[in-house]
Amino acid sequence: MSFVIAVPKETAQGEKRVATVPEVVQKLTKSGHEVRIEHDAGTSAYYPDDLFTAAGAKIASSRTDLLNGARIVLRVQPPTVAEVDQLAEGTIVIGFMNAARNPETVIRMRDRKITAFALELVPRITRAQGMDALSSQATAGGYMAAILGAANSPKFLPMLTTAAGTIRPATVLILGAGVAGLMAIATAKRLGAVVEAYDVRRAAGEQVRSLGARFLELEINAEGQGGYARELTPEEKEKEQQMVSAAVARADIVITTASIPGRKAPLLITRETVATMRPGAVIVDLAAESGGNCELTQPGKTAREYDVTILGPLNLPAQVPFHASQMYAKNLQSFLALLFDKDGALVREFSDEILAASLLVHAGEVHHGPTRELLEGGKS
Ligand SMILES: NC(=O)c1ccc[n+]([C@@H]2O[C@H](COP(=O)([O-])OP(=O)(O)OC[C@H]3O[C@@H](n4cnc5c(N)ncnc54)[C@H](O)[C@@H]3O)[C@@H](O)[C@H]2O)c1
Repeated sequence: MSFVIAVPKETAQGEKRVATVPEVVQKLTKSGHEVRIEHDAGTSAYYPDDLFTAAGAKIASSRTDLLNGARIVLRVQPPTVAEVDQLAEGTIVIGFMNAARNPETVIRMRDRKITAFALELVPRITRAQGMDALSSQATAGGYMAAILGAANSPKFLPMLTTAAGTIRPATVLILGAGVAGLMAIATAKRLGAVVEAYDVRRAAGEQVRSLGARFLELEINAEGQGGYARELTPEEKEKEQQMVSAAVARADIVITTASIPGRKAPLLITRETVATMRPGAVIVDLAAESGGNCELTQPGKTAREYDVTILGPLNLPAQVPFHASQMYAKNLQSFLALLFDKDGALVREFSDEILAASLLVHAGEVHHGPTRELLEGGKS
């Protein structure tokens, strides 16, 4: 059986990624599906229309042409309410949904009987690794954070021995050594910096050391459910801040990635700590979107205080759109495979553990418990 799979051009501000790439289109068309790409959808990620055409896709010149008869829609960002209104009942939409931040979209998808799968809800089990878009995009974000830190620093990162003298390597500190943090460590190491890192999960220590960085130990282990961190107690927070402050003061670049799922990001760098930093030091706060790890972070902006540059970038993966899109497209390709049975028909039930966990809305109902509770709290 074959289906029409549609890929719209992303409309969110600053979004340069696209949900599929020619290599994946080729696989989907080989399996008999018709893939439609909205005109210019991949242009800002450097996948022009003609590459998609060569891979077997059809280019749709308008949204109406794109969606007419489409069974599945692949996206990066959640649709807006107006975009949901363009979809026929029963359409399957797959992408990041950020339900807590987009309740109106969720309500509209529910009311229009759209089936929506949220990639951020894919469980982080071994079988789902190929579909783990949170990880692939955190990899892109961590890489860019190190690059931005280096580009905004007035110093070289590597040690240099030149006729004009010897230059000491810069010190880069990474706070939060999850997926993004580990990629930032690896990138800063490759640029030649001396790298230190800290995470509340002691298990992260081994991974940090295997990348050649120094792990800062604190006698706290806040490993919570599913490999994520739990929130610290007030005493633990105080101890953490003391140790973190000393490390921050000796760093040239600090990259912060600490977050706890569903919570405001923990505050790790206070104004007082920033005041102790070296002139020219840089903070790249990857947690800017969820409140920031630094007290002085302004989401989406660059702040300059006490001679320290504080970057609060939003959507860093969109700044490496070519490879971020490629990885994301492969995540979607793996996810799509779960939706078809061996005869190529759409599965009738979403009983597979991964599908069940990531099903946000289906047949007029919100399936994700926390989102349902949130909406019921708002009496929608
Ligand atoms: N398929 C899989 O099995 C799979 C895939 C991806 C990630 N994971 C695991 O999930 C975990 C984290 O993933 P993530 O990067 O998405 O996490 P995340 O983005 O939620 O958090 C980033 C990091 O911040 C850390 N953190 C939280 N509070 C902190 C604090 N107060 N101080 C310092 N650090 C703090 C967390 O421990 C985490 O490492 C890791 O254990 C990772 O190995 C597993």
